[in-house]
Amino acid sequence: MANVTFSSPRMAKDITVYAIAGDRGTILALAKEHNIPIPFDCQDGNCGSCLVEVSHIYAPTKYSKYGIALTEEEKETLRQLGKISREEIYEAEVNDMPPRYRLACQCFVRNEDIMVSFVGDETLPVEKPHITRAAKIFKGGIRVETVDEFLGYAVKIEEDAADHFYGLAEGMKEGGNAEVAKLFYQLAGFSRLHLKEAKDRASKLDADVVIPPDYVWPDQATPERTSMMAADPAITKLEALKAALVGERRGYEFYLAIAETTGNPEVRDLAKSFAREESEHLKIIEASVTREEWLISTAGMADEATAAQ
Ligand code: FES
Repeated sequence: MANVTFSSPRMAKDITVYAIAGDRGTILALAKEHNIPIPFDCQDGNCGSCLVEVSHIYAPTKYSKYGIALTEEEKETLRQLGKISREEIYEAEVNDMPPRYRLACQCFVRNEDIMVSFVGDETLPVEKPHITRAAKIFKGGIRVETVDEFLGYAVKIEEDAADHFYGLAEGMKEGGNAEVAKLFYQLAGFSRLHLKEAKDRASKLDADVVIPPDYVWPDQATPERTSMMAADPAITKLEALKAALVGERRGYEFYLAIAETTGNPEVRDLAKSFAREESEHLKIIEASVTREEWLISTAGMADEATAAQ
């Protein structure tokens, strides 16, 4: 299997498709099969309209790429387009090394992961980046109008936050940072309580909680996640608290934005109640940050006083 990722300003987002190695299909054939808008005309390597740039996703050295036999048509057309250098022609002829630009109708998909970039039809408008509905809601750009939808998002957020904080806590514990581990276990506990509340309410309304199929959030992260993707045992308590503060604040703002924009009174009440609870967590963390900063500054003052003696 080979992963082939297509990227173009004429596409709202990159698309990765799987090609079966050995099919000996061209990049253009694969693109057509998946409705990827690579322009083409002759399909014989003569017109150059299917020009693409091919980069290898994993190729530690240039010689770990699959060798190629560049056809005379492709070589000549690339040369006329000014898309192949003398050195690249030498590498292709002597070492079978692929050049950077290729003609999609001449280039066969091999058993390697590649990125295929192309300009596409320049008469077509450039696509704006695809933003999922979840991302728009996260950014406050869409109103949530049904209780089921609100609960669907709340379940997803709290589930993710609970797992995330629990993972951080375990990492801290393993790394011997018990103090910060305790804080993250506590935050995981908060999220689990919220999750239970959302699930309980959801089951009363509808057994099938509505979680939209495109629930993917920006950067694959729900609002309450901190920017800490992996536990760093060397992190100080203050740093961990500040990272947690960012996540909790985003969760609070998320619920507040829904409460402020929805036209459904039931959703507004629910969102307000979730925001209220988030604000309680925020206060706890803010107080901990203040206390930690005070402890650090007083410890620093004590050190200075000892040194002056
Ligand atoms: S379609 Fe003409 S060169 Fe590929």
